[in-house]
Amino acid sequence: MPDAPTRLALRGDLLDFTGTPALDEPASPAVRFRPDHWLLVEDGRIAGALPGPTPPGEDWAREDHRGRLLMPGFIDTHVHCPQLDVIASYGSSLLDWLDTYTFPAEQRFADAAAARAGSALFLDALLAHGTTAAAVYPTVHAGSADALFEAAAARGMRLVTGKVLMDRHAPPALCDDVVGGQADCEALIARWHGRGRAAYAVTVRFAITSTPPQLAMAGGLLRRHPGLYMQTHVAENRDEVRWAAELFPEARSYLDVYHRAGLLDERAILAHGIWLDDTDRALLADTGAHIAHCPTSNLFLGSGLFDWAAAREAGVRVSVATDVGGGTTLSMPRTLAEAYKVQAMQGWRLSAWAALHAATRGAAEALQLGGEIGSLEPGRLADVVAWDWSHGPVAAHRDRLAQAQALHARVFAWMTLADERQVAATWVAGVPRWRRAPDRAPQVAALG
Ligand code: GUN
Ligand code: ZN
Repeated sequence: MPDAPTRLALRGDLLDFTGTPALDEPASPAVRFRPDHWLLVEDGRIAGALPGPTPPGEDWAREDHRGRLLMPGFIDTHVHCPQLDVIASYGSSLLDWLDTYTFPAEQRFADAAAARAGSALFLDALLAHGTTAAAVYPTVHAGSADALFEAAAARGMRLVTGKVLMDRHAPPALCDDVVGGQADCEALIARWHGRGRAAYAVTVRFAITSTPPQLAMAGGLLRRHPGLYMQTHVAENRDEVRWAAELFPEARSYLDVYHRAGLLDERAILAHGIWLDDTDRALLADTGAHIAHCPTSNLFLGSGLFDWAAAREAGVRVSVATDVGGGTTLSMPRTLAEAYKVQAMQGWRLSAWAALHAATRGAAEALQLGGEIGSLEPGRLADVVAWDWSHGPVAAHRDRLAQAQALHARVFAWMTLADERQVAATWVAGVPRWRRAPDRAPQVAALG
């Protein structure tokens, strides 16, 4: 494990949020931009900031990232570790995509060595994409959750995960049962929940693949163990919504299936939420459950357009997530750029501030982790990423012009054009966990 200097100062353009920006306003008092500052990190936590020309004393290790953006690490609130194997698979919508690509791929994680290798690959990929914390689905196999927790602990990462619960409508090799699923969850909770930065999520894949007794068992786990998360999918695809209505005729809606099982509270993370109505949104707001919006997945699988404005209007929290492998990238900037387009298709414009907030401070708050991650506030753990402002001649040209414009114009162009090639370094709790290979010189320097 690389050592963390007790006192580390990182120089760059600091960007984070002190509150919640409006969805569509390019000027926001919630934005905190401190160009050319030192970010001070002491014992893995943010200790403060100083203007660039006045560095801290000699007892601080220094790293100069001048001309780069320094931001809190992104938080991906919904992503599937084993699905790196099937990212970018051709030609199907949700239910068919699960049967054709995803369920076959997930069977590989029955093998503990495959799960370990897959978890290491996946978490290193997150760090290389500038993402330092995530809510992740492994597979139905308890060993796949162990593997993810172990790999996250080795990297010091904040990880929310739990073995997937599925006891019907999936291949037999991926199905558990109520008794076995409960025993696995109890053992994993005892082993991992609250250990270091690990948190357990009762992971009901979706209503289609759980029987009512399994949903009731999941609700029982949440009641017995306060502080657990719950993660699932809801109202992603119209065929799925119809099937859920057939399977649960007593429920008012797809979301109500989870509510009746006692699965909705402020630690519930529901992916997608495209086909919800006003009553559903009111239920989300009342329970504090939040939506992980997954734009690249929704576009790739042709699932539909998430109505973020309606969610905000109803008081529903929204984070943004990649949903790889239905989603097509682990990059949060690329995901946020697609989120903008999804809202543009519905006639309005998502600000860079609202988008970036939803992937940092907003996600942290939705996960009840605002005291630990998501901002550069003193006392937060130093999960920080240094980003080049551009990559390649077109983005460099655009960035040069944008520097003469309002800050939102520059940051919006960055968000729309950026990808993982712009990640120079990623720190987790002040420890450098990923650095770009030295032969990838920063583009700004090359272009002058
Ligand atoms: N619904 C149930 N399982 C999945 C999954 O793995 N990916 C997506 N996008 N939706 C799901
Ligand atoms: Zn998903």
